[in-house]
Amino acid sequence: MISLLIDGRPTNCLDPLDRGFQYGDGVFSTLPVHAGVPLFLDRHLDRLRRDALRLGIPFPSRSDLMADISTLLSHRQAGILKIQITRGSGGRGYRPPEHPTAMRVIALHPPVTYPEEYAVHGIEARYCEIRLGLNPALAGIKHMNRLEQVLARSEWSDPSIVEGLMLDYDGHVIEGTMSNVFVVSKGCILTPRLDRCGVNGVMRSLVLEAAGDLGWPLEEARLTPDGVAAAEEVFLTNSVIGLWPVRDIEGQRFTIGKATRKIGEWLRYKTRQAGRSGSSVG
Ligand SMILES: Cc1ncc(COP(=O)(O)O)c(C=O)c1O
Repeated sequence: MISLLIDGRPTNCLDPLDRGFQYGDGVFSTLPVHAGVPLFLDRHLDRLRRDALRLGIPFPSRSDLMADISTLLSHRQAGILKIQITRGSGGRGYRPPEHPTAMRVIALHPPVTYPEEYAVHGIEARYCEIRLGLNPALAGIKHMNRLEQVLARSEWSDPSIVEGLMLDYDGHVIEGTMSNVFVVSKGCILTPRLDRCGVNGVMRSLVLEAAGDLGWPLEEARLTPDGVAAAEEVFLTNSVIGLWPVRDIEGQRFTIGKATRKIGEWLRYKTRQAGRSGSSVG
């Protein structure tokens, strides 16, 4: 069964000179596929294109990407689609080639199933020791340098802790190791500003839309652990998990309140809609 295409070919042979492999010189996006439909694919492709543009990586044609995705989905109808675009091959040093040829790696992984209770009753989270470096030039981009998250995720093995929250070097809460973070404080939804570090998640942008639609005030803010501790509700999002309420951070309990429930319902509604509207890719 084909589950990986590199530049449209069913192979798992990667050029060792590829700059994604050499330096993490690339961008990626991960999204679920349900019943043959990659959910919010357009939004993921839009973010990939924007991220690639910011890094000066040429973006493959939409028709090539769609053809690859169709091929993979013709073999399997459900799973986790991971799309990576790198700056392609080029020499030994850091200097990018003058005319790079991007490489596209598209993989369909088996579906992941998280316990239903995470979405219903919330999860337990902790703070990670490792901090996120500040770099406005990379802030928001889902680039392929993920060592900070790899180190953060290796800090704990207790299975009852589901996600780790990460601070930047100024002590601001930025995101989870694999998710964006929101708190509800005095009737307002707050989410960290991502102008200095962090990943601008596709689900995060949907939450921003949800808040607008539902008339819930939402602000992008500098958030501290004290600010999180003072909040009434906390929730996390990413494209694979959707929304998980946080019920406990290092012993401090949070309720699953109205804002979390309403935003969660809105996201589930939009996800069902997305699943119905894009019944095919090709
Ligand atoms: C570090 C990090 N932040 C945020 C997110 C959420 O991004 P998205 O909503 O696009 O899945 C992810 C997703 O994997 C992530 O790895």
